[in-house]
Amino acid sequence: LVRFFSPKPLAGQQVLVSAGPTFEAIDPVRGLTNLSSGKMGFAIARAAHEAGAQVTLVAGPVSLPTPRGVGRINVKSALNMQKTLNVLSQSASVFVSAAAVADWRPVQAAEQKIKKDGSGEVPTLSFVENPDILAGIAASARAQNGALYCVGFAAESQDLLALAQSKRVRKGVPLLVGNIGPDTFGQDDNALLLVDEHGVTELPRADKLVLARQLVAEIARRLPEHKA
Ligand code: CTP
Ligand code: CA
Repeated sequence: LVRFFSPKPLAGQQVLVSAGPTFEAIDPVRGLTNLSSGKMGFAIARAAHEAGAQVTLVAGPVSLPTPRGVGRINVKSALNMQKTLNVLSQSASVFVSAAAVADWRPVQAAEQKIKKDGSGEVPTLSFVENPDILAGIAASARAQNGALYCVGFAAESQDLLALAQSKRVRKGVPLLVGNIGPDTFGQDDNALLLVDEHGVTELPRADKLVLARQLVAEIARRLPEHKA
């Protein structure tokens, strides 16, 4: 039904969506990653396409089919994802950062598989912080002059509203979407808390595709050309 609505709310928009976890290699067979099925980001990409946008999905390692009509680029690490998103964000009009980016990566991945030496000694791993991809894009000239509308996500284990509000300001994004947990990872439904400069909107628990369509409508309403 949605696809017969006209005019489509995102017609003429170039929407960029990041989804899934990143994978930070420790050695050729091991790595550090986050719990994320990618379902919410994939649903957003699908909903944005239904809403008439040209959509590119930048996906970390997930096992989900590409939504019909959506362009997809697979990435692995946060640095990989950042490089891809930095380029694509230069021609996007909306960026939805739904990826669960690993906050740290090993300083250096071992070239060969790390072996047990039989002594019972454990390896020591050192980490460095990954760049904040969303904050970087939100600080870019196009985001600052209103050509690119950025949407962040937050998954918190406590105090969601306060943390989402402060995260919105810290990331420098107009809209931040909180996952109302617990246990949204891998589930087919979720509930969302939308925080913008005017306040808070709750999207009650529903199937992720239903929520994605509602979120897309909320984003469309907030785009500069829709503000009278
Ligand atoms: N994000 C990002 N790059 C990172 C970390 C997060 O682009 N290195 C994005 C996520 O895609 C999400 C938003 O920032 O849209 C918030 O991610 P989150 O992990 O909740 O926030 P952090 O800033 O990493 O803070 P913390 O994990 O400590 O709560
Ligand atoms: Ca984080």
